[in-house]
Amino acid sequence: MKPEKIRPARRTRDITYAVRDVVALAQETAKTGREMLYLNIGDPNKFDFTTPPHLIEVVLKAMRDNHNGYSPSSGIPAAVKAVEKDSAAKGIRNIRDVFITSGGSEAIEIALTALVDRGDNVLIPYPGYPLYEAVLAKLEAEARPYFLDESKGWLPDLDDIRSRIDSKTRAIVLINPNNPTGAVYPRELLRCILALAAEKGILVFSDEIYDRLVLDTVEPVSIASLDSEAPVLTFNGLSKGFLAPGWRMGWGVASGNGEILKDYLAGVNKILRARLCASHPMQHAVAAALEGEKAFLAQTREKLRRRRDITCEMLNGPGISTVRPQAAFYAFPKLDIQGTDEDFVKKLIQETGVVTVHGSGFGQKPGSKHLRVVFLPSEDVLRKAYGNLLEFLKTHRR
Ligand SMILES: Cc1ncc(COP(=O)(O)O)c(C=O)c1O
Repeated sequence: MKPEKIRPARRTRDITYAVRDVVALAQETAKTGREMLYLNIGDPNKFDFTTPPHLIEVVLKAMRDNHNGYSPSSGIPAAVKAVEKDSAAKGIRNIRDVFITSGGSEAIEIALTALVDRGDNVLIPYPGYPLYEAVLAKLEAEARPYFLDESKGWLPDLDDIRSRIDSKTRAIVLINPNNPTGAVYPRELLRCILALAAEKGILVFSDEIYDRLVLDTVEPVSIASLDSEAPVLTFNGLSKGFLAPGWRMGWGVASGNGEILKDYLAGVNKILRARLCASHPMQHAVAAALEGEKAFLAQTREKLRRRRDITCEMLNGPGISTVRPQAAFYAFPKLDIQGTDEDFVKKLIQETGVVTVHGSGFGQKPGSKHLRVVFLPSEDVLRKAYGNLLEFLKTHRR
């Protein structure tokens, strides 16, 4: 009898993750001996950024002191308290729950899992980080895009958001500062979004994982700080600002009206208990990060500022235009090219060794074409990669 292939669940069909999908092609190309220039992964530790030594010491000590068993499901008290204090310092009041998770990713996944039923929808930004779509596909819920407005510095458009909310909408996701655009949202706009969410009775998910990497003199505002009664889940972690993505340390903070949130948070906590806990020794780094010395942050931002400036200087010209990112380490240039951005990115890898991610992997307005670059590499590598890209663009632009 012919052995039957094992059939994957149908829900896996809709799961894509463009950031890692381009890697396979890059690996193939690298085998040909071509010099590769990687501008595709938002991992600072792959470049000249290292985890602050005081965080490493704390984790090593925790391991030596045998903090290697399971921790409470919501996290060790010191980490939970440090996150509470940090959130309060950002102006977040009425904190109802804090949970420490395996990266911000797990907090997001648990928060969505406890919220949606099949057929519900959640508003997600286009362009935006693809995790939300992947999780919602798994939950057989609808990821319903709202578009960020490139002509307005990639800010959300309130009318567009309003037009997409219906009786099955359960939450709106904000990524602020944003991946992949680097936009930071102004206070007044956040106030309007919060008012709309209150009017429609939907939860706000605010992903603020890049809030310590603001490169301009704009102030990052936690949307939860603007109304102590509004039900908001705020996500953050050690991956980006604290330069430890491989540690998988993140958290969620639930704030707002306790009565409104009570049953939902009971659901969140059932899931938290079922998965036991996040990595225990790593949790000891949370208080050390939030309460310890932060000189490294200014150095990180200074390096990124220079790299951001090179990016904007070089990626504006014939066939390409880039809105200046105010934060994080991503830019999302618009391309005026023949063919699709996916084909452009593939050929760019094969013919120049420059690895970026196509805009369609993050969502974009129909008909528009973009790519995402990560400006974490050194200034020399960036100049070389952008030089190759511009040369390639000459023969592909419209
Ligand atoms: C917007 C956004 N949210 C969440 C994450 C996931 O972060 P973590 O490493 O904490 O799981 C990322 C990672 O790139 C991100 O860009």
